[in-house]
Order: sequence, then structure tokens, then C-alpha cells
Amino acid sequence: MIKERNLITINKTDQSKISSVDFNNIPFGRVFSDHMVSIKYTEGQWQSAQILPYQEVKISPACSALHYGQSIFEGMKANLDEQTGDVLLFRPQKNAQRLNASAIRLGMPALPVDLFLDSLYQLVKLDRQWVPTVKDAALYIRPLMFATDPYIGVRASENYRYINFTCPVGAYYSKPVKVLVGDKFVRAIPGGTGDVKAAGNYAGTMHPAILAKKTGYDQVLWTDGYEFKYAQEIGTMNVFFIVDGKALTPELDGAILPGVTRESVIQLLKDKGVSVEERKVSIEELIDAQEKGLLQDAFGTGTAATVTHISDIGYKGKNYQLPPIEARTISNEIKVQLDGIKRGLLPDTYNWIVRL
Ligand SMILES: Cc1ncc(COP(=O)(O)O)c(C=O)c1O
Repeated sequence: MIKERNLITINKTDQSKISSVDFNNIPFGRVFSDHMVSIKYTEGQWQSAQILPYQEVKISPACSALHYGQSIFEGMKANLDEQTGDVLLFRPQKNAQRLNASAIRLGMPALPVDLFLDSLYQLVKLDRQWVPTVKDAALYIRPLMFATDPYIGVRASENYRYINFTCPVGAYYSKPVKVLVGDKFVRAIPGGTGDVKAAGNYAGTMHPAILAKKTGYDQVLWTDGYEFKYAQEIGTMNVFFIVDGKALTPELDGAILPGVTRESVIQLLKDKGVSVEERKVSIEELIDAQEKGLLQDAFGTGTAATVTHISDIGYKGKNYQLPPIEARTISNEIKVQLDGIKRGLLPDTYNWIVRL
């Protein structure tokens, strides 16, 4: 059992909303649990943490996050171990560290890792009845931090707010995704902010995503911002390709988000004896493999999406249909293994799980 060290004030709601939720029919990201964590940063330090009823946040129209985008977030999931009744978190320390990498890159204050974790554990314990038991559903956890100075001068804010709230969710993608190789717009280049979870990274992807949808694709497969030649990642997922039995995934070159799922999947693949190459992966190489019948699989990995198969790749006006999902032995096994660890159905041999 985890012990919390930080003193966190808890102000419980007197009216839980849980009875109004249909857990068999949960839309992604629209239903919010009863409570949230709130911590303010003022006068050069983090103030004491509070757990409050989930509520709206009051900000000034001059709030600097709205103008200059000092806003970062994280994403995690909690699952229920149906045998023990424990709530399971997957590698939350990694999210605490990544939040701080994002904060530093955007000139924001780091949040002490133990404060991130203690407030998270208390929040999830308090709202544990919100963790869904339905297949493929989970409690999604969304920590975020943003600048709150009511000031429109361009400089790092002096005041910030950290919030963490949760929502029960069903599956993010219910079917395999069709991806369109991006060859015009840039998501990120090394030296930018693509390797952290800055809100602004996502803003720039909305217009290209709308255009991709119009041509029948679900997501853009981003490529490097110089030559549009090498694969980066997809929407909210890192990407893997299985070519002739080997797993290829784009190397972390400073433009790609270092996904917690990516790191875990690399470990699982290696331990299954699959060779993993983290390197530049060119689209031409993939198309060439596809034409020779060697592109056996392609999938995205992420907290929200877990392991999501890619059914089609659109490139230079042509659509390439990948092998049927049933034939994707490696990714199907990895998905079952990862889900099994996250749900307590398989032993946690890597020590990835925090039980609450
Ligand atoms: C851009 C981007 N890439 C990859 C990922 C996958 O990261 P993780 O596995 O830590 O959820 C995410 C989701 O957080 C993301 O937003």
C-alpha cells in the first residue's frame, strides 16, 4: 500500500453525480468524476494541495495561458483489479517526470514528484467507485498545469495552477485507424516542443487532421519537418511497424513524444525475442516493404489508445491496405499482454503497477 506524505485538504462533494452515469455507454472524455486536485503556485512556491468537488475554473480574460500558451498536460489511466478490488495505476512516476520536463521546456515551475503522486493517489482513492469495470473501459486521469497571470506582456507567468481530474472512459478507438502520411504541415522539429506535452503542439495538428478526415483518413502520420520523409508519430500515439519480423519505431530525436506506452512496448517486444530498431524510419522504406509483402503490421501506442492497429496508409495519392488484423500476431499478443498487466490479470513482473 502507498503512503501519502503531503498534507492534502479534502473537501468532499455532498452530491455525487455517479448515479447519473451509464457505465455501459460512456463517451470518451465527456463525463467527469466527482472531485479534482487543485494546487496553486504563487510567490515562487507551490501552495498546499486541495481536493475539491469537480468545478469550473475562474480565470481573467488576460490569463496568460490563453494568449501565449503556457499550458501543459498529462494522461494516465486507472484500472480495477477485479479479483482484489485494488485500483491499478500504470507507471505514474513516468507521467510526473514528463510533466516536469514539459514544465521546464515552457518556463514553468516543476511540481514536486511526491506532490504529484500523493495528490493523484488520494484523488483516485476518493473517486474509486468511478473506475469502470466494463470491458475496455478505464478511469482516464488528466493532470494539467497552466499560467494564470492576468497579464498580457510576453514573459513567463509568475502564477500557475495545477489541476488533476478524472473521467471514466470507454475505448478511444473502437476500430483500426487509417492514417494519411503528412507531407505539407509540420507537427514538430528537434529543438521545438514536440518532445513534451505542450497544449500548443496539438493546436497545430487540428487543421491538418480536418483535411485528412475529408479525404477519408482518421489521423495524420506525421513526418519530419524538413523533408517529409521519415515517420514521427500519429495524433496521440507513437508508432511501430513490423517489417519482416523486426519492429521498427522512430527514434526519439527531440521532435517525438517519449510515450510511456512506447517504452513499455519496446520492453515487451524485446522480451518476446522480437528485435527492435529505434531509428529513422522512412516512408519509402515502408512502402517498399509493403510492395514486397514484408510490412506485416503497423500500430500506434498510447495511454488513451493502448495498442491500436493501423489498417491503411495513404501516401502520395495512393492507399496501401495492410494485412488483416487477425494476422497481426505480434501486436495482438502485445496488446493482450499490456492490457493484462494493466488490469492485474497478468503478473506485474516489471514492477510497473501502483496498487491503491
Ligand atoms: C503526441 C503524442 N504522442 C504519443 C503519445 C503516447 O504517449 P503515452 O504512451 O505516454 O500515453 C501521446 C499521448 O500522451 C501523445 O499525445
